[in-house]
Amino acid sequence: MLKVGIIGCGGISNSHMHGYLEMKDRVEVIACCDIDEPKAQEYAERYGIAHYYNNCCDMLKAEKLDLVSVCTWNNAHAECSIAALNAGCNVICEKPMAMNAKEAVAMKEAADRSGKLLMLGFVRRHGNDAQSARRLVENGELGEIYYAQAKYLRRCGFPGGWFGDKSLSGGGPLIDLGVHVIDLMRYIMGCPKPVSVFGATFDKLGTRPGIKATDWVSETRIAKPVFNVEDMAVAMIRFDNGAVLNLETSFNLNLPNNEDGLKLYGSKAGLSVSAPFTLYTEYDGQLADIALRGENDFNFHRDFDREIKNFVDAVEGKAECIAPAEDGVELMRILDAVYESAKTGKSVDIVR
Ligand SMILES: NC(=O)c1ccc[n+]([C@@H]2O[C@H](COP(=O)([O-])OP(=O)(O)OC[C@H]3O[C@@H](n4cnc5c(N)ncnc54)[C@H](O)[C@@H]3O)[C@@H](O)[C@H]2O)c1
Repeated sequence: MLKVGIIGCGGISNSHMHGYLEMKDRVEVIACCDIDEPKAQEYAERYGIAHYYNNCCDMLKAEKLDLVSVCTWNNAHAECSIAALNAGCNVICEKPMAMNAKEAVAMKEAADRSGKLLMLGFVRRHGNDAQSARRLVENGELGEIYYAQAKYLRRCGFPGGWFGDKSLSGGGPLIDLGVHVIDLMRYIMGCPKPVSVFGATFDKLGTRPGIKATDWVSETRIAKPVFNVEDMAVAMIRFDNGAVLNLETSFNLNLPNNEDGLKLYGSKAGLSVSAPFTLYTEYDGQLADIALRGENDFNFHRDFDREIKNFVDAVEGKAECIAPAEDGVELMRILDAVYESAKTGKSVDIVR
């Protein structure tokens, strides 16, 4: 039975818990911690977890853990993951991997030194849509992919709380939402290496004070909330195989509805990964749209359980880890370059 510890007992940690509870014949969550001690206590009582702590170092010292979920604010991902890896634990760390590429590299180095697994919480990789699209690409159904579009736009969706505080989040929708779809598209494309980025960020609508948020809201209240992050970001990301990914993401934007648009364009066919999952190609001298009618969907709860299962399976050598640390590092290099380009107004080369 593998012993599990949870670091950060907020919203997303419940999804990790659900995944572990689905595997209770193989894993047991025996400890949790949160800098908000009453929250850790309440969490431990709710889930019947034996021990709770108010910091991860005490937990890692007192408990013999095999697996650790890092579910803290973004500013603590590196510190907590490195502490857990140094304590000999395998780690699954929520997205984004870290605040920047420097921290991400330090995390990967800690994993390499420890010989333990560091997996990233790129839950979108575990969806049926991602897996079907990747299979189509691997089988050459799209030909050479030279362009892709990733949109994750909210009209009125600032989550509140710590998400607006750059010192805790590292940024706005780019690092919170963009990270999901940049990674997903890069994964489907076969993980080409990013080489340069042109980006822009905006803060024109801020938090939309006075308008009731229509989207998901953070459950954690912050003593002195601030909003010093971007509310919208765009980027062109060029990869080493010549392909380009165009990203658009927002917390707030004056558009008719939230938009989730994921499309790939290849020399043989295009593919809409967003529903309806469709190939755009030619047949018998005519344009042809091929709607693939299987379950090519993303389901947050199902795919979270799959993610946790993949983590446990990978640690036990029963499966390959679907979201390894090196992909988190590449993602952070892209995000750093978007913010840098937004600042300078120039294209930024990614140097390793
Ligand atoms: N995969 C997804 O789809 C998804 C969805 C939501 C959030 N997330 C990610 O999960 C992480 C947490 O987000 P959330 O919405 O659960 O936030 P949250 O505020 O609900 O929970 C985070 C918890 O971490 C605690 N914490 C902060 N620093 C800590 C530290 N050093 N040690 C221990 N505990 C600490 C906070 O007190 C809080 O209780 C973020 O990185 C976020 O990007 C991922």
